Amino acid sequence: MLNVIDHPLIRHKLTVMRDKNTGTKDFRENLDEIGGLMVYEITRDLPTKEIEIETPICKTKADTLAAPIVVAPILRAGLGMVSGILSIVPTAKVAHIGMYRDEETLEPHPYFEKYPHHMEESTVIIVDPMLATGGSSAAAIDMVKKQGATNIKLVCLVGAPEGVKLIEELHPDVDIYLAALDDHLNEKGYIVPGLGDAGDRIFGTK
Ligand code: URA
Repeated sequence: MLNVIDHPLIRHKLTVMRDKNTGTKDFRENLDEIGGLMVYEITRDLPTKEIEIETPICKTKADTLAAPIVVAPILRAGLGMVSGILSIVPTAKVAHIGMYRDEETLEPHPYFEKYPHHMEESTVIIVDPMLATGGSSAAAIDMVKKQGATNIKLVCLVGAPEGVKLIEELHPDVDIYLAALDDHLNEKGYIVPGLGDAGDRIFGTK
């Protein structure tokens, strides 16, 4: 299911990121901040369990997270959201999924994957700022499912309807979270209006 997280702070920060005059430092900082704000919202339904603890005053029952959290950035642009997410869930483990997109065919090609233990019992949060054709995200979801993950969330900053449709078709069990749903993809596979190449803007490359 698609969830567009509509919040004034997220809208403001995304506007800064969309502006072509925004430099690398501000782009990175705003992406990190949005990552933190989004993960606060998307973790609302995480399961908790009751444990017994002792405060300085007495014994009491209190809630703790019931399942581990794994953040799985799709390299390289997904890395730009990791530290913001970890600032909110510092106990999360970090998987890495290396994927590059063939510039001609726009097809995703996995080249690296590394996971923590217990993927099958974890909430896995796949992150990639741009949900364009959806090919890379769909392939990343396949990869984490092969590791046994069943509770998977896909967190992107900006999405195109084409990408959302593909994920909904191939992985109806995965919740998609966006900060904005944009208009369409152009002939080069860029999201319109979008924010350009997220990886290049995060890392200052061309
Ligand atoms: N990847 C990007 O970085 N930007 C787009 O607009 C589409 C895919």
